[in-house]
Amino acid sequence: MTTTPSEMFLRRRHGTTVAPGVSGRRPANGSWRAPRDRQRGGPVTIPAPIVLMIGPPGSGKGTQAERLIARCGYVYVGVGDQLRSEMSHHSRLGRVIEHYVATGALVPTPIVHEEVAAILRKQRPRIARSGGILDGYPRTLSQAKDLLSLLKEVRLRNPLIVVNLRGPDRLFAGRLLGRGRADDTPAVARRRLRQFRKEVAPILAFLRRHTSVLDVASTGSVPVVARSVRQAIDRRLRELQAAEGGSEVDRAG
Ligand code: AP5
Repeated sequence: MTTTPSEMFLRRRHGTTVAPGVSGRRPANGSWRAPRDRQRGGPVTIPAPIVLMIGPPGSGKGTQAERLIARCGYVYVGVGDQLRSEMSHHSRLGRVIEHYVATGALVPTPIVHEEVAAILRKQRPRIARSGGILDGYPRTLSQAKDLLSLLKEVRLRNPLIVVNLRGPDRLFAGRLLGRGRADDTPAVARRRLRQFRKEVAPILAFLRRHTSVLDVASTGSVPVVARSVRQAIDRRLRELQAAEGGSEVDRAG
């Protein structure tokens, strides 16, 4: 039996393929169904979405991604995770990447592009069927433009949904320091947060021209934020369904 990227992600974080506190409720075919009480006029057939998780370091992108994939069966695409996996191979590329990650700088876009393109090409059938979740990508305007081109190139037409996790840097810096990953030192965390604030406005402005951006406060507990994320996504999917089946998301980019 092959291990999916989502299962590998959960296993790396928890040693098991089930996220703590989440009872699996995967839809059988990956397509999204409206909650029964809200369905009007027959079953829903819109494809499962591709969710972009955007938010400062420590805002809970990975934490919320794992809850969503455990519940909905989306395919996980985590760029930070992928870069750390390259680093662990101690290859020349891994050493180049390590230089950036260790200091909190962004890894050069051509390297990130290759990583993301490889995952999207390889996982295309799974993502088309079950939806996907991109954690921490895009992080620059050029990556945002690149992503829309890539999705077009690999012919992924799932509805695109952007979840923008919000909250104060002080709270998120505290969470990072409590986590203790190698790049969670005070100076590096500050640099990553600064970097995020510098890049995020143009990314969101660009994405808003192509789809909706769902702003979600990430200041509550993990389950509270998870509920807000889920409700925001469900609301958006219902809107898409109402507007002719939800498959017409403009990504002309
Ligand atoms: P990456 O691994 O993506 O790190 P990040 O964006 O800095 O995000 P984090 O993983 O630190 O935070 P998160 O938002 O996922 O929070 P988490 O859920 O873990 O990137 C690392 C590096 O890789 C970058 O600095 C860069 O060098 C490079 N890179 C990555 N993507 C790139 C790209 N696209 N282009 C170029 N370079 C790239 O939560 C954090 C902690 O808080 C955990 O301990 C968690 O348990 C806790 N927590 C979460 N939510 C809550 C809550 N609601 N209440 C209390 N605690 C919570």
